[in-house]
Amino acid sequence: MRTKYCGKITPIDINKIITICGWIDKIRILKTIIFIDMRDTTGTIQVIFNKKYINDFSLALKLRSNFCVQIKGLVTLKKQKSLLKNNILDNLVEIIAFKFFIFNKTLPIPLDYKKKNKEDIRFKFRYLDLRRDIMFYNIKTRSKITRLVRKFFTSNKFIEIETPILTKSTPEGASDYLVNSRLYPGKYYALPQSPQLFKQLLMISGIDRYYQIAKCFRDEDLRSDRQPEFTQIDIEIAFIKTSYLQILINNLIKKLWLSIKNIKLKKIKTINYYDSLFKYGTDKPDLRNPIKFIELNNIFKDKYADFFPWLSKNNINRIISINIPNGIKKISDKQINVYKKFLKKFKIHKFMYIKIINIKKKIIDENKIFNNKIDKNIISQILSHTTTCNGDILFIVAEELNLANKALSSLRIKIGIDLKFTDIKNIYPVWIIDFPLFKKDKHNNLKSMHHPFTAPKNKNINIISTDPLKILSSAFDLVINGYEIGGGSQRIYNYKIQTEIFNILNISKKKQKEKFDFFVNALKYGAPPHSGLALGLDRLTMLLTDNKTITDVIAFPKTTSATCLMTGAPC
Ligand code: AMO
Repeated sequence: MRTKYCGKITPIDINKIITICGWIDKIRILKTIIFIDMRDTTGTIQVIFNKKYINDFSLALKLRSNFCVQIKGLVTLKKQKSLLKNNILDNLVEIIAFKFFIFNKTLPIPLDYKKKNKEDIRFKFRYLDLRRDIMFYNIKTRSKITRLVRKFFTSNKFIEIETPILTKSTPEGASDYLVNSRLYPGKYYALPQSPQLFKQLLMISGIDRYYQIAKCFRDEDLRSDRQPEFTQIDIEIAFIKTSYLQILINNLIKKLWLSIKNIKLKKIKTINYYDSLFKYGTDKPDLRNPIKFIELNNIFKDKYADFFPWLSKNNINRIISINIPNGIKKISDKQINVYKKFLKKFKIHKFMYIKIINIKKKIIDENKIFNNKIDKNIISQILSHTTTCNGDILFIVAEELNLANKALSSLRIKIGIDLKFTDIKNIYPVWIIDFPLFKKDKHNNLKSMHHPFTAPKNKNINIISTDPLKILSSAFDLVINGYEIGGGSQRIYNYKIQTEIFNILNISKKKQKEKFDFFVNALKYGAPPHSGLALGLDRLTMLLTDNKTITDVIAFPKTTSATCLMTGAPC
């Protein structure tokens, strides 16, 4: 149907007769001449319909934007005047049309391509939203990334293997999506939350190096970096130290940023989990932001009741602050109120700040927000404990540990962006290591911090069962610019340890048998030591295309309430 793509026509084609297919991007109709920007998957080219050369000019007058057409014409050099106007090299040529065919007219396009459209309209008419250059770029880049990933793993001797979609539950912390079995009424397949167990089984099979670009399904609360259906770059290797895995992934990440963004990443750092919580209040720190937490616990230690009467003695509490250099000038009182409102969302008891007026004279302004007047002694301690200067503001939070961390780490992110402390053009990957193996859920039950197949750092079963919360795991997460991009670990390959972990997690013998018997049995057949990891392809692509939500890099995403506005699923 076509002899040339619009974006590929160059001065070499001058005087050639070509046929192009695509959509009318823009159209300007004059009496005897029509100017068209014709668009296809490669770009646009200007086409001129002159009454002199077109048989059916009356039909041409009916052409409109977004009609799908075929045009035959002669490639010519653009007129001097329009060249000067456009002043862009790829517009050197244009086409003088002499024949055209309308494949399809169009209904009015429900999106305004010149404006930001509402998400629901974009999702409902996704096929039209994907016509936007930026969306097309995102999808093309995603394809380029998967190509690079495949090349990388193939050249590192990995084998790509598909694992089942209709399967049994693989616990990754979310609920399963279930599929009804026609042959066995009342029984269900679960869609995989990840290929975790299958890739471990492949190690037992002797597949030394597995990878897969795998679809995963999780029924959980959604947000800008979470979809119910997403894609992982999933890998598993036998007989290696986990440090090898991290080096391999460092190389992949560096390669991706170099190939896609032409950015040379520096050495990728490693931070211990507790250190990350201590300094940034989160295990997903955005290290482009230089602000760190300042611990004030010791200063107020014996005076909790005086200053922060809402703190319960039964909780582990934390009094922390962040120092905003030159904050008095940079943050107006109105803006302080914005931050006050922002922190209110976290249900903290009190929003507190101190303006450092004069360090030498120990003059501060605490705006009567503390329950008690801060005396000179405390001021001295705060000032000697922090690296504040005259003109700085200290924002302070005193709450139960997790709440304090959550609230202040969110404020740290917000202030970093608002005051441009965060270098948003930078890329800052970091490995978080030494996670605890277990955590307590809101019902006070033990849960795996990652998943129950993660090996503990200390392999002594007795120690694991006596004080499980103190046990560190061999897990590691890759965080880039505050997003968890990947997670992995060394795996348990001894069935006794695996069973003990299930016991500690309070999974009944009956449930263990029902859910994991096939897996625990497999471990008894000479399972090799193995480690693996999965990277979120959607999140990775989001960062590599400078987007803020993964829906912009997924061709057909779901809403945050897990519906597809285009097809009407679920139905
Ligand atoms: P984990 O659960 O940490 O590990 O997932 C790995 C990575 O997958 C991405 N991810 C998601 N992306 C979009 N939407 C979601 N709902 C979503 N959930 C997770 C994240 C995350 O870091 N089996 C283990 C890996 C392993 O141990 O090998 C696993 O799935 O980027």
